[in-house]
Order: sequence, then C-alpha cells, then structure tokens
Amino acid sequence: MAGHIGIVGAGLVGGGWSIVFARSGEQVRVYDTAAAIREGFLGVVGQQLDDLKSYDLVDDPAAVLARIRVCDNLADVVKGARFIQESVLEQVEVKAEISAAIGPLLDEGAIVGSSTSGIPGSAFTEHAVNRERFLVTHPVNPPYLVPVVEVVPTPWTAQASVDGAMALMAQVGQSPVLVRREVEGFILNRLQGVLLREAWDLFEEGYASAEDIDKTVSEGLGLRWSFMGPFETIDLNAPGGVADYAERLGPLYHSIQKSRTDPKPWSAGLIGDVDKERRAALPTEKLAERRNWRDRRLMALAAHKARQT
Ligand SMILES: NC(=O)c1ccc[n+]([C@@H]2O[C@H](COP(=O)([O-])OP(=O)(O)OC[C@H]3O[C@@H](n4cnc5c(N)ncnc54)[C@H](O)[C@@H]3O)[C@@H](O)[C@H]2O)c1
Repeated sequence: MAGHIGIVGAGLVGGGWSIVFARSGEQVRVYDTAAAIREGFLGVVGQQLDDLKSYDLVDDPAAVLARIRVCDNLADVVKGARFIQESVLEQVEVKAEISAAIGPLLDEGAIVGSSTSGIPGSAFTEHAVNRERFLVTHPVNPPYLVPVVEVVPTPWTAQASVDGAMALMAQVGQSPVLVRREVEGFILNRLQGVLLREAWDLFEEGYASAEDIDKTVSEGLGLRWSFMGPFETIDLNAPGGVADYAERLGPLYHSIQKSRTDPKPWSAGLIGDVDKERRAALPTEKLAERRNWRDRRLMALAAHKARQT
C-alpha cells in the first residue's frame, strides 16, 4: 500500500519515531497540537540526526530530514497515510479523543499504532471509527537506537492490521515483538518490573548497596542481555540446554520465588534511602550530563550491533 507515515504527537517519542521512518526512506508527516513543538521540531530532530551521524548510524542526515514535513493540522497527516504512529500524552482521555479524531480520517487499509507505555489499546479505541485498525506499537526510547517494538492488538484489532504493523516495523529496521493479547505492562515492563521488585527488596533488606545491585547488572547479567534474552541465556548455560538447566537450577528459582509472596508498593522511606545513595553518587545537577553519556554509550552499542551478523 502506498502512502506516507503520519506521526501524531511530536514530543520526545514522536520525534524519535520520525527518525526511524524517515531514515528507512519513508515520507513522514508530523502533527502536534502545540505550535512551539511544531516550530522547534525539525531543529530537535536535526540535532539528533547529527549525533547519529557521528556514530555512523545514519548516512545522510540532511536527506533524512528532508523527508519529514511538519503540518499544522491533523487531517494533512492522517489523510493519505498508510500508517499512523500516535505518540500523544499518556492519558486515557487524551488517547481516546485523538483516536476518535483519527478514525474517520483514515484511508482504506491505513493502520494506527499507539506508543502507549502501558494503557491497553482497548481502553481508548473501543468507540473509534475503524477501531479494527487500531493497536499498540510500544517503542523504547529512543526508538531509533533501541529497536524493539511491542505490537499489542486489542480484542477488536483485525489480523490484517496486526500483520501490517509487524511487517512495517520489520521493514523500517525495528524488531517487532507480538504480544498476543493485552496484558498490563506488556512484556518489557513486566520483565523490568520483576527485576526492579527484587532490586528494591534486596536493598531494603540490606543485602547490598544500590551501587552493587546496579553493578550486578551492568557488569554481569546485562552484558549478555544486550544480545540474548533469558531463555537463550539459560539454554546455553547447561551442557544439555534449557531442560538440563531447569533440572539443575529449577528448584533454586522455585525456592527464591516462594520467598517473595507479598507484593507491596515501593515505600516512601525506601525510595528516600535509594535516592540518598544515588544523589551522593550523582548529584541532581549532573543527571543531564549522565543522560547524555548514556545516550552516547547506547549509540556506540547500536553501532557495534549493526556491524555484527
Ligand atoms: N518517554 C518515554 O521514554 C516513552 C517510551 C515509550 C513510550 N512512550 C509513550 O509515548 C507517548 C508520548 O510520550 P512522550 O514522552 O513523547 O511525551 P511528550 O510529552 O514528550 O510528547 C507528547 C506530545 O503530544 C502532544 N499532544 C498532546 N495532545 C495532542 C493531540 N491531541 N494531538 C497532537 N499532539 C498532541 C503534546 O503537545 C506533546 O508534544 C506516551 O504515550 C508515552 O507513554 C514514552
């Protein structure tokens, strides 16, 4: 199907998506309700493209930027589009309102993916016109450096829309993951949630400092996790593969799991204690500098991975 890609909501994530699509050769049109965001958009994206160029992650930043057009109304972005990536504020009413506005403007066969981090698509698309063409396509920020996209259909999403979203994400260089039905937090944040829960608990119970818990991931588990997941990890960690691993270590993990039976919110006191350690290690005024460092490391890692077969 011919047509451009529409980006609705041009903040942090919408800007990242515009790079993903334009970098792969798609024509992109962008809309945001805020005039200041529309006016500054190409400047922000241009800067990000220059940063990518310095890590050889984009060939020709000017050519990519030239494929992105900022529009001052929704219809110009939705009409004629074959796919719309919605990235407005994470509020169910705002998502429902924009879905209702997009639905009637859709060309035949056009699909709408929402960037929502955790709201199930069914909570804001039920009453939209053409609701069978709406689903969630949840990115990780920034999507032009972290390729995974969780594709999550609602109960009324047509199979053709799921197939179309999966195919498009693969075509533009992302790594789509199909979440077969709606579940709170999708896959990524559920996995992250389990790790965070254990991190908070171990800290609270005094087993290790926040620094050492972090180091266990950055100097340990995380090294493998940048190129393989938990199942492949354990498959390779026993001579006979996953079944052998399960036989050797299954009882240990079961016992650990049984020791955590009481889900509880992260308490204010506990957050305060971790915050105290983090702020001593990294003062608030240095957070931005460290975020820039993180993004540069991520670019170097993305460049390294792009060179692997
Ligand atoms: N920030 C992240 O790390 C991250 C990661 C994955 C997914 N997400 C999701 O992406 C979405 C956007 O998040 P963000 O971080 O880019 O937020 P953001 O605040 O940077 O951008 C949201 C933009 O939407 C615009 N907007 C609001 N209502 C609109 C409307 N009706 N039509 C057009 N534009 C509208 C706002 O003006 C704003 O520019 C959210 O659903 C969020 O949960 C964010």
